[in-house]
Amino acid sequence: MMKSVGPFDMYQETIGKLASDGIILLAGDPPNPMTIGWGTLGEIWHMPIFTVLVRPTRYTFGLMEKAKDFTVCVLPDGFNKHLAICGSKSGRDMDKIRVCGFTLAQSANVGTPFVTQSAFHYECRIVHKHRLDPAALDPAIDKKYYLTKDWHMVYYGQILGVFKRDL
Ligand SMILES: Cc1cc2nc3c(=O)[nH]c(=O)nc-3n(C[C@H](O)[C@H](O)[C@H](O)COP(=O)(O)O)c2cc1C
Repeated sequence: MMKSVGPFDMYQETIGKLASDGIILLAGDPPNPMTIGWGTLGEIWHMPIFTVLVRPTRYTFGLMEKAKDFTVCVLPDGFNKHLAICGSKSGRDMDKIRVCGFTLAQSANVGTPFVTQSAFHYECRIVHKHRLDPAALDPAIDKKYYLTKDWHMVYYGQILGVFKRDL
């Protein structure tokens, strides 16, 4: 059973997982899971917003460019192997949903489904995107993270729903 919760109710858990194991960004048709470690949760335009950062070299990038929405799926503890696969293998080369044994279910608010193994997930509609601008970036950050000049695209997702699994 999934329980609807407020947009920021899972804030601590989400930021904690981003900074440690990682979480799953699911996008595309058919959907492809990619591990992400960077993102923000906050309020813009009087809307709850989840931003995710995707490098143009990722298979997920092409999917996000065509997508209207995405889900962010936060797995419970014990899924590090799955996160390692989704964070090192590409959807160009394999069906990561099948390899990980994930099952998908229809979201309540967006076309992209969610991973049913998640402890909780976000349903987000893309309302804005922009490429990081190296001219406006701290040179130390640019040097450290963008040696190959693959500056992230930042996608802004309006959070339309957050659902927690009753464990
Ligand atoms: C813990 C972790 C966090 C990651 N965070 C991001 C991220 O925020 N943005 C990104 O573009 N890639 C990130 N990656 C790398 C992608 O997950 C990885 O390149 C993946 O294989 C891309 O999959 P795809 O080609 O199917 O899109 C991360 C990888 C790991 C292991």
